[in-house]
Amino acid sequence: MISQQIISVAKAMVADDKGLLAMDESTPTCNKRFEKAGIPQTVESRRAYREMIVTTPGLGKFINGAILYDETIRQSGKDGTPLIKMIIAAGIIPGIKVDAGTKDMPGHPGEKITEGLDGLSVRLREYSKMGACFAKWRAIFAVGDGIPSRDCIKANAHALAGYAVLCQEAGLVPIVEPEVLMDGSHTMEQCGEATEEVLREVFIQLSIQNVALEGMVLKPNMVVPGLTCPVQETVDETADATVRYLLRAVPDSVQGIAFLSGGQSAELASARLNAMNVRFGPQLPWPLAFSFARAIQQPALEIWHGEPANVAAAQHALYHRARCNWAARRGEYSASMEKIRA
Ligand code: G3H
Repeated sequence: MISQQIISVAKAMVADDKGLLAMDESTPTCNKRFEKAGIPQTVESRRAYREMIVTTPGLGKFINGAILYDETIRQSGKDGTPLIKMIIAAGIIPGIKVDAGTKDMPGHPGEKITEGLDGLSVRLREYSKMGACFAKWRAIFAVGDGIPSRDCIKANAHALAGYAVLCQEAGLVPIVEPEVLMDGSHTMEQCGEATEEVLREVFIQLSIQNVALEGMVLKPNMVVPGLTCPVQETVDETADATVRYLLRAVPDSVQGIAFLSGGQSAELASARLNAMNVRFGPQLPWPLAFSFARAIQQPALEIWHGEPANVAAAQHALYHRARCNWAARRGEYSASMEKIRA
């Protein structure tokens, strides 16, 4: 029997037209982004960057929850205050990424399996004591010739469900993140078919493992063409396809859907989310929210550039993207918001 507390947290994560900020890049991923932006790849840079994010004035107006990485949940601000305390003080619910990343799937070239179930219940209890109220696990699926395979879908769905039930037993809300990747030249329909097949299997496994859907948040990809597909559908077409495939595979009792951005530009991610909410919002069984990393952080990261003098400008950019996505949830985002920054 799921606790009311878990259901309340899941509701709060997608309430009030706000969304989630994913700031849970693993150290190698964060370093890669820093390297590209010309920022030193050190523990101190990562700490300073995350402090810049969580001290953004007014962020809690648009963000309900922040997903942290193990390194970050243990770090403190310059004045010694733990970052997690700063997050809570900003009115934001802290969460934590708990998967251990992806590895090549043996016997399945081009496919990956997510690891991290060993010792997970002990880690969840530790994170819960540190103040985390929810967790996240990401599985990835490439689209290509004969992939995603049934084996890859089943193995990852099984692990996602195993993680989700352990979270609920530890009193944490699981974010279940099955991501069909944008890399490649596949069409929007191929993305949609893969997304539907993956989601169907995920919900079969969640049901077999007795995960309470009202105590979880789904974090899927949007249904979009591959990055190098010659046909790139309009914003409205991708919004229609995303909602069509989600309706086929996601049960009504799921507490909320919070999309990942997956490598779309920040503006496109906002525009697509906005179109879904304008065209379908009130008729859907679940709220359509956001849980973006790159589509919220990227402009701020580039402005920050590792320089204390750029903190205010970077925070302004972060605030702006959070506000645009809040507006997209309300169906009030428009390209003109990009010109006049509040
Ligand atoms: O796991 C990935 C993040 O939580 C979402 O990142 O919005 O950059 O795809 P993204």
